[in-house]
Amino acid sequence: MAKPSTCFVCQSCGASSSKWTGKCDSCGEWNTIVEETPAESAPKGLGSGRGRKVKLVGLAGESRPAPRFETGIAEFDRVCGGGLVPGSAILVGGDPGIGKSTLLLQVVGGLAARTSCIYVSGEESIEQVRMRAERLGLSSANVALAAATSIRDLITTLDVPDSTGVVVIDSIQTMFVDSLDSAPGTVAQVRTSAQELIRLAKRRGFVVILVGHVTKEGAIAGPRVLEHMVDSVLYFEGDRGHQFRILRGIKNRFGATDEIGVFEMTGEGLVEVANPSALFLAQRRGDVSGAAVFAGIEGSRPVLVEIQALVAPSALATPRRAVVGWDSSRLAMILAVLEARCGVSLSGRDVYLNVAGGLRINEPAADLAVAAALLSAVADRPVPGDTVVFGEIGLSGEVRGVGQPDLRLKEAAKLGFHTAFSPKPAGKQKAASVPEINVTMLEHLGDLIPLIGLPAQADESPRMADAV
Ligand code: TYD
Ligand code: MG
Repeated sequence: MAKPSTCFVCQSCGASSSKWTGKCDSCGEWNTIVEETPAESAPKGLGSGRGRKVKLVGLAGESRPAPRFETGIAEFDRVCGGGLVPGSAILVGGDPGIGKSTLLLQVVGGLAARTSCIYVSGEESIEQVRMRAERLGLSSANVALAAATSIRDLITTLDVPDSTGVVVIDSIQTMFVDSLDSAPGTVAQVRTSAQELIRLAKRRGFVVILVGHVTKEGAIAGPRVLEHMVDSVLYFEGDRGHQFRILRGIKNRFGATDEIGVFEMTGEGLVEVANPSALFLAQRRGDVSGAAVFAGIEGSRPVLVEIQALVAPSALATPRRAVVGWDSSRLAMILAVLEARCGVSLSGRDVYLNVAGGLRINEPAADLAVAAALLSAVADRPVPGDTVVFGEIGLSGEVRGVGQPDLRLKEAAKLGFHTAFSPKPAGKQKAASVPEINVTMLEHLGDLIPLIGLPAQADESPRMADAV
């Protein structure tokens, strides 16, 4: 008789192997391999012709836009692509304590008037959830609560016709399927629990929102596999030290990705921030050196943020480069371009870069604003007040065009800015213009140097770092 087979599954990437190893061959993580019994063996004899014929239809055909449940929290709805689509599965990831439970309790609180909602907590008791709801002013909302962790019990509860609109599972790592031997939170448990819930949600037409904790490396613990199973993946991020929280769409089968929703954590829960630019610039001090305002785009929305740089003499053999809110290899590239193409050397100096307000920027369009902040820090002269900056920098020092310059300038005008440093439009592209803003177009990074108030550098001239 064949002995029951077990396999060894990496808890970080989900790869399985036949023997235990200290290091996962697939993702390179150490100590992540755990022995598991596979949930079900692969069906045998697939070629034996016993399957049913699948109905094939033409691509051209009628389709109706999916109806959506609006939560009444505009920032959340926008990230979801305009509301929750019945039958869909959403994964909300984030660090422990960032506010996922608070957000989702507010979401079901908002939805309760429109559809029936169930909030299942595997982490907190009913009393704790009630206390939180009271604090959020939702104690009278018509939400059904459950403290449960068994998927079998949940499936039995939820497998009833047409009664439920939205189910929140907080969190998927606490759920378990009793037919598996492995502990809750392992890849097999998380994957099977999610699979069962998603299958039921599709069959019964309710929305299932799964909460997933994120490991310190930033992946939703274990279940990277989960990201493929769900329709949308949202990350709730932010710095615990700041009160701002950002909900970011990573994947969305029913709308655009890369949308963000901005919230502020207050004593009464999360409050939407309708105008993030004003919030991110609220503590800006005008004429200080080493700061530049970047006019960025997050999803469909323009957002202005302040980029701060500090350059200080270094006592270390390898000077320090510290970055918060931006990509450190992108900073290394800009420092190299400044040195090689503009003669501004920062070797022998520590460089610190910070995106104020706790936002994380991924756009290459921030290059020029980063360069402006660095140059301003090196020269100890402020970037002229009331100026926004945007543009991508290429390796030869050229300033490249970026998307939606009009939208960026309009947002800047709305917040009282009067000048902008922007790229020259490429080819036949029309130059962006907004009447309130005086736009200076740059072709090369070197053009920025006199604008910060320094003499332009010829290639052979002494390096600015030595001159300043
Ligand atoms: P929580 O939603 O429990 O985080 P998660 O589910 O992601 O682990 O949020 C917990 C934090 O939020 C906690 O540190 C307290 C804070 N908080 C407030 O500041 N105000 C509030 O009204 C609530 C409910 C929580
Ligand atoms: Mg929680």
